[in-house]
Amino acid sequence: MNWDDSTGTAPGEDAERLVGAEADGDDQAVEAALRPKELGEFVGQSKVREQLDLVLKAARQRGGTADHVLLSGAPGLGKTTLSMIIASEMSAPIRITSGPAIQHAGDLAAILSSLQEGEVLFLDEIHRMSRPAEEMLYMAMEDFRVDVIVGKGPGATAIPLELPPFTLVGATTRAGLLPPPLRDRFGFTGHMEFYEPEELERVIHRSARLLDVDTDEEGAAEIAGRSRGTPRIANRLLRRVRDYAQVKADGAINREIAGRALDVYEVDARGLDRLDRSVLGALLKLFGGGPVGLSTLSVAVGEERETVEEVAEPFLVREGLLARTPRGRVATPAAWAHLGLTPPQQGPHGTPGGPGQQGLFGA
Ligand SMILES: Nc1ncnc2c1ncn2[C@@H]1O[C@H](COP(=O)(O)OP(=O)(O)OP(=O)(O)O)[C@@H](O)[C@H]1O
Ligand SMILES: [Mg+2]
Repeated sequence: MNWDDSTGTAPGEDAERLVGAEADGDDQAVEAALRPKELGEFVGQSKVREQLDLVLKAARQRGGTADHVLLSGAPGLGKTTLSMIIASEMSAPIRITSGPAIQHAGDLAAILSSLQEGEVLFLDEIHRMSRPAEEMLYMAMEDFRVDVIVGKGPGATAIPLELPPFTLVGATTRAGLLPPPLRDRFGFTGHMEFYEPEELERVIHRSARLLDVDTDEEGAAEIAGRSRGTPRIANRLLRRVRDYAQVKADGAINREIAGRALDVYEVDARGLDRLDRSVLGALLKLFGGGPVGLSTLSVAVGEERETVEEVAEPFLVREGLLARTPRGRVATPAAWAHLGLTPPQQGPHGTPGGPGQQGLFGA
């Protein structure tokens, strides 16, 4: 495996998409202000919250340091937020770094050897750490010890260095990429799920209060429904709707304002944006719902293959609008309904009886 590549993001990913789950510059500025500070304020993720609450309470009762925690889940679901909550619940300082920032074992040794007792070390994108650093981390996690190498070549010696007990909080969007020895060294793994619309409504109400925006129940519900199960997107859409409400109305957000604002930004009722709809539209209108190969579909929408596959498709699949089959991409009945189109009559073998595109484009 190549350890220094950017396994994190797809080409042309998300950056400027309103419904992209990755943080953009604008988000980073505002997110600090919107982050819940304690576990009780953290909306949703009831399983992870309950489990983590036990881990932290027990550690506090013992007067010790909490076990190492791994948080896995899609971007924008609250991993960084939760890591900060862990530190604050433990009344411990937090040190923040990330896998890509630690390319040499020495970088990690410097951080580890300066930790205070009980400190939380947050290692974001832990799946992107270099192999030597990772091996140093194994020993640090398990034995609270690192070997610092002094000198070079045959004269080099390893000087063992004791570390104070600390809590490592690792975050990853790709738990599957973590080598098992690393995964096994965490005492607790929290899997973050996408949020239910009702939970996102609570996130939106909370953020609206903090941003001092007047939002009614239905307005929040309208935004929540378009937020793809992701608090970061919910907060971003809320800010765009706030702009619209301020410029085009009296500043207050209700269902109609939210709907009109998000129509302007081309985020539809289900959270699909222009790219998603053009992929789905091509699949339905040009290929009768498929099956059609990825390359053909990509050419039809004028996008790179990777963009279609890695940026648009995951959400369409998650929403049950598109299926990836061995013969190609296929639209589900829900896709026809969502775009307000009627599926063609089924042919004798269960294939669309359309104008014979099957033979040309299938598989
Ligand atoms: N459970 C929650 N309750 C309220 N707000 C939340 C919750 N989870 C996330 N948020 C909000 O969503 C934003 C993004 O969350 P966060 O930065 O923690 O995501 P992340 O999982 O670390 O994403 P990434 O993988 O991109 O690092 C934060 O600003 C926070 O305000
Ligand atoms: Mg994060």
